[in-house]
Amino acid sequence: MKKIAIFASGSGSNAENIISFFRTEKTAVVTKVFCNNPKAAVFERCKRLQVDAILFSKEDFFKSDNILNQLKDVADYIVLAGFLLKIPTNIIEAFPNKIINIHPALLPKYGGKGMYGMHVHTAVKENNEQETGITIHFVNENYDEGAIIFQATTKLEPSDSPEDIAQKIHTLEYKHFPKVIESVILQ
Ligand code: GAR
Repeated sequence: MKKIAIFASGSGSNAENIISFFRTEKTAVVTKVFCNNPKAAVFERCKRLQVDAILFSKEDFFKSDNILNQLKDVADYIVLAGFLLKIPTNIIEAFPNKIINIHPALLPKYGGKGMYGMHVHTAVKENNEQETGITIHFVNENYDEGAIIFQATTKLEPSDSPEDIAQKIHTLEYKHFPKVIESVILQ
């Protein structure tokens, strides 16, 4: 069975959804959650779900092989679920086409540095977009530029607030992200 490590920085609702999915499907297992934010709610979710979760520092991540060494034991694949730091080259090189990110917009629109979470949905609203969506893609050295694996769209109403848009995006993410991860693992 393939092992998945999840990286998350915040609420972790996608992390929870992926953990639950693979507990039923058993085509892979989420072994560990890595988080850079001590206040992230993902820690409470992992405690409740009894999944190992660790907090790491930027120093550990960018200036040592500590995280890479831990990953070698627990991961065949790495899934970024609301993770806000760039992945360092040592990890990208050790996991070619094995790191999968979800972005809450239709890349290449609304991607790049600073475009995450509500910043994306506010920009979508300001531009009066009639639709938005999710992009699931492999991770390379540049933010949001790796090969696209899957996209799904959702229609927007003029009355939708950024919070409404976030909710529509989360619905798409919960529906598709675990299945797309599974399809990559099984191919
Ligand atoms: C998700 O919508 C995810 O697509 C987005 O952060 C949210 C995390 O929610 N990721 C990015 O913006 C990455 N650029 P969650 O913590 O509840 O899963």
